[in-house]
Amino acid sequence: MNDPYTTPSLEQRLHQPHDVESHGLRTARIAVAVATMMQLDTDTISTIALASRVHDIGKTHIDPLLLDKPGPLTSKEWVEMRKHPQIGYDMVKGWVDEKIARVVLAHHERLDGTGYPNKLTAPDIDLPTRVVHVADAFDAITSARPYQPALPVDHAVSELAANVGTQFDGDCVEALVAVVEHNRIALTSPVGVTAAMGFAAVAG
Ligand SMILES: [Fe+2]
Repeated sequence: MNDPYTTPSLEQRLHQPHDVESHGLRTARIAVAVATMMQLDTDTISTIALASRVHDIGKTHIDPLLLDKPGPLTSKEWVEMRKHPQIGYDMVKGWVDEKIARVVLAHHERLDGTGYPNKLTAPDIDLPTRVVHVADAFDAITSARPYQPALPVDHAVSELAANVGTQFDGDCVEALVAVVEHNRIALTSPVGVTAAMGFAAVAG
């Protein structure tokens, strides 16, 4: 039986330093909006909610100098950065459902097999991972990063649309476009996803 005084709570485990926390929260809000637009079932939406919140948790073990680097990474630095999905998977696999951990592992895989860490192709990339991947990319483009200012929503939509079929799932991108068109304000409103998405129930 877990000792409540020494076992971290889900909220403590979810707390991630750096921009990882805020990016995870924004990605969760977007991913849930996309999943809801796609009329996915409640269990799948819960998987997407928690997986998107922790998808980059492996970055908490990546050198902050790489995370904050105000310019392109070298090939050697990319090797380090690309370890974060496997690190994240190893971190969460013991305390979340396996299907959530698999999203953490696969969130940088691409449909055409050019992603990482395992170069999966479309048949092996599940729907929750596809949704999180699109939401992750949308937030990355529309948020300020050390090496790039925040870009407009329309730019992000164009970027996603241009990579449908190779990187992104067309249905997920279509749903994101619908969310943007019909619900643009919600995407920029303050985030309170923990309570809204029932993460405690997901964690069991
Ligand atoms: Fe990532």
